[in-house]
Amino acid sequence: MAQRSRQRMAAGNWKMNTDYAEGRDLILQIIDGLQPTDVQVVLAPPFIQLRNADNLTRGVSNLNIAAQNCHQETHGAYTGEVSAAMVRSTGARYVILGHSERREYFGEDDELLSKKVQAALEQQLCPIFCCGEKLEEREADNHRATVEAQLEQGLFAAVPSEQWPQVTIAYEPVWAIGTGKTATPAQAQDMHSFIRSLVKKAYGEELAEQTTRLDGGSVKPANAADLFQQEDVDGGLVGGASLKAGDFIAIVKALEASLSEA
Ligand code: 13P
Repeated sequence: MAQRSRQRMAAGNWKMNTDYAEGRDLILQIIDGLQPTDVQVVLAPPFIQLRNADNLTRGVSNLNIAAQNCHQETHGAYTGEVSAAMVRSTGARYVILGHSERREYFGEDDELLSKKVQAALEQQLCPIFCCGEKLEEREADNHRATVEAQLEQGLFAAVPSEQWPQVTIAYEPVWAIGTGKTATPAQAQDMHSFIRSLVKKAYGEELAEQTTRLDGGSVKPANAADLFQQEDVDGGLVGGASLKAGDFIAIVKALEASLSEA
């Protein structure tokens, strides 16, 4: 197999978990357990922890911080919201956008997401853009069409070629999130290869080859190695298992091991 040029990434999405002290402890445990690595490790704690997370991880190579969302406007009368510029000012480098929980519980659609993607890029924040089908869409064999529409309307419409290298894509089938059900390695490979073909159509082969694609939905130490061996899976967006330092580090190690096998 040809050597991949793509960045490998293990990202932990903490969702609405950990208070300030718990978050600090988790970061310190992760720093303690991480060896220097070629894998890009990203932690996405709740907003209020971003600044402290960045301070704690500064100087740890390949460890970066992400927000879990941002608002599409730069500032103004949007009570309770946080702009991309505010996120950037904490030192965070990434922002997760389009997570299925944001789509489902907060009514975020692809038109809105394309604005969020633009707002993030304007602030030099790298979007980790999530896509993925619901169970009924997979059962109706609509999973490809669903993901294609999400990517075209939410992401491709917002990103010119010159900014594309800042984008990471996460494929997370909704039926696999928090359910313990994982896409099989073959299902994951099938969708990630499809996503690569969509990126190729939109941005050309060279940029498609460089685009990091993460798999998500019940990724854990027990299934990580099999997923990461798939040719088109460049890492994971991890929920529940990222809240336990030992599990998350085991996932990073599985990704690292897949580097030497590629
Ligand atoms: P789980 O790993 O808990 O299934 O969550 C996946 C996820 O939504 C990551 O963004």
